[in-house]
Amino acid sequence: MLLDSRVRLRVTPFDVTDQFPEGWQEDISAVATHAEFRDFPRTPFLSREAADVTHITRGRVHAIQVQQGLPWLYKLYRHRFLELASAAWREPIDPALDDRYGIVLNVQRGNKMRFECHVDSNPVTGLLFFTDHLAGGGELVIARDPKAVGVAELERDHDLVRPRAGQLIFFDGHTYPHYARTLIAEHDVRIVAVMNFYTRSCPEGSTRPAGLNQHLFGAD
Ligand SMILES: [Fe+2]
Repeated sequence: MLLDSRVRLRVTPFDVTDQFPEGWQEDISAVATHAEFRDFPRTPFLSREAADVTHITRGRVHAIQVQQGLPWLYKLYRHRFLELASAAWREPIDPALDDRYGIVLNVQRGNKMRFECHVDSNPVTGLLFFTDHLAGGGELVIARDPKAVGVAELERDHDLVRPRAGQLIFFDGHTYPHYARTLIAEHDVRIVAVMNFYTRSCPEGSTRPAGLNQHLFGAD
């Protein structure tokens, strides 16, 4: 992975397949079938979609489903991955204390879904890919311009991460807008774990917009 010195974008890849238990593919697929698939309204504060986009169709496995259905993954998030994040960032890294958004799965099924252009409220984001896509599509597009808005602008100048099963990356999604492209193949499925991490200078609570929890969970 190339590090871009112009914007100090840090995308650090680790292959963590050896951390997975036997049968992990079946575990992940089973939980992903219970994802909530629907049109999600653009995320307040954090969306970087063009003005005319009101909804994005996608799938979400909520944090509680991850904790109950994939306890090994939840444990990796709070322990081993924390060490890797600290190594990548060269400073102490903390997981989310609030289990409602610490680790979730994003799921795209078929070739119509994508993920929203947005920035993250947390200073360090971990993405762990569980699927490969031989037909292409599903790439993570990370804008080099922190001010980029909408798919067209993000596509104009970006770094690209192709999903590879077992690959874990850390990047600054707080500064750089990003989104996931649609898949190419009609029957393909993209599954990625999304993890919120925090630094001591940018701790949980300091950067999360007031009202975001109310929007997402119906409670602060
Ligand atoms: Fe993000």
